[in-house]
Amino acid sequence: MDLYKQYPIRLRINEQDRDFEVESWVTLLDLLRERAGLTGTKKGCDHGQCGACTVLVDGKRVNACLTLAVMQNGHDVTTIEGMAKGEALHPLQQAFIDQDAFQCGYCTPGQICSAAGLIAEGQAKTVDDVRELMSGNLCRCGAYPQIRQAVCKVMGIEEGKAGAASGADGFTTGPVLA
Ligand code: FES
Ligand code: FES
Repeated sequence: MDLYKQYPIRLRINEQDRDFEVESWVTLLDLLRERAGLTGTKKGCDHGQCGACTVLVDGKRVNACLTLAVMQNGHDVTTIEGMAKGEALHPLQQAFIDQDAFQCGYCTPGQICSAAGLIAEGQAKTVDDVRELMSGNLCRCGAYPQIRQAVCKVMGIEEGKAGAASGADGFTTGPVLA
């Protein structure tokens, strides 16, 4: 078996059709970063633990390090580079700025893509829902309270006293993001 055999694939990335020749073992994350030149998507753990590599595939959030590029042939991929429309930031991008929801910024592209997927899923109704459903995205800088605030702000979820109380603990003491 030729491990280096390449397969032709076409992905629609950030509303542009892109053609590649890739080996079967190339992850979507490596294709985006090393072959498509889209380094906004970050590699943290490279094995599905941190969420830094989160992108949207057909509108659903996916850990790009856990899926092979060839599996996404014909699919629609959105990365952080595709979130803004021209000069207009995506509401989540603006909210992250407004809420100061990052420090080093390494987790931020994944957080924003994950939050976009969360919104599309339509399941989160409360602050606790946001906390739980964003828990796959870790932030080593501990910007969890601000990330939660930014996501809730865009979703129109008010941070009441009950949510704020439990949220403060969850966001500041452990890896459970939201
Ligand atoms: Fe993919 Fe950590 S780099 S989950
Ligand atoms: Fe640094 Fe989240 S802002 S890891």
